[in-house]
Amino acid sequence: MKKLLIFITILLTGCTSEVANTQDDLLIIAHRGDSSEAPEHTMPAYEKAIESGADYIEIDLRMTKDGQLVAMHDETVDRTTNGKGKVSDYTLKQLKDLDAGIWFSDEYKGEKILSLEEIVDKFGSGTQYYIETRIVDIQTGMEEKLLDILSKRKLLENVVIQSFSPESLKRMHKLNKDIPLIQLCQNADVPYLKENEINQYANGIGLNGKLVDEDFVKKMHVANLEVHTFFNKENEKKIIKDVVSYGVDGVLTDYLVNAKRYR
Ligand code: G3P
Ligand code: CA
Repeated sequence: MKKLLIFITILLTGCTSEVANTQDDLLIIAHRGDSSEAPEHTMPAYEKAIESGADYIEIDLRMTKDGQLVAMHDETVDRTTNGKGKVSDYTLKQLKDLDAGIWFSDEYKGEKILSLEEIVDKFGSGTQYYIETRIVDIQTGMEEKLLDILSKRKLLENVVIQSFSPESLKRMHKLNKDIPLIQLCQNADVPYLKENEINQYANGIGLNGKLVDEDFVKKMHVANLEVHTFFNKENEKKIIKDVVSYGVDGVLTDYLVNAKRYR
């Protein structure tokens, strides 16, 4: 529909739209919530993402010392809280004593690290969740725990699960064949990506948008894999227009309002 409106606008005005490359069914995924507007993975970041019309909110998952799943990108709490050390060395209660907002700005002083349960209990089935199982060394059971949390709340149809770890995704696929899975690829691994192995357990691949072109997207689509791209914060606004024009299926964005212009 949007493409038709742009076409009619061009016919009537003789002008091309500023945003010529759009894709009607492009999935807009709020990377760590609306992480340019509020501290990543905090409640304000998720609230703002939903208010801005994200299709999915992204949640990076890590496991605490006492086996709870929390929304946290890094292995340590150093960058995004006033604490220090590994997430896996804290209990959930101890993590709750940290300030997860002050590093972003004074306005967010006192924001808390969130458990997955708190997030899904707050937003329920009105939202879709794009959840990443982060690579962990000694931790086990994240997949079972995640499925348990989701199935108890009847949210299995509201999620996409992504991971850089094929083992985590294969485990998930074994436990539940219906959840859409996205195999994330590190930049250095993209040239060696085996699409006809990945498509045995995953529905798509996720990679940095700077590594994508039209031929790559076509090749993945032939292998029945969707292509979702993430970005470096510095390059997203420069390259998203081209990336969308190559036919990708979803974008993990740090700039929601801008990304929505491409659909
Ligand atoms: O989901 C893909 C993207 O989030 C991967 O990058 O490091 O932000 O988790 P990262
Ligand atoms: Ca992530």
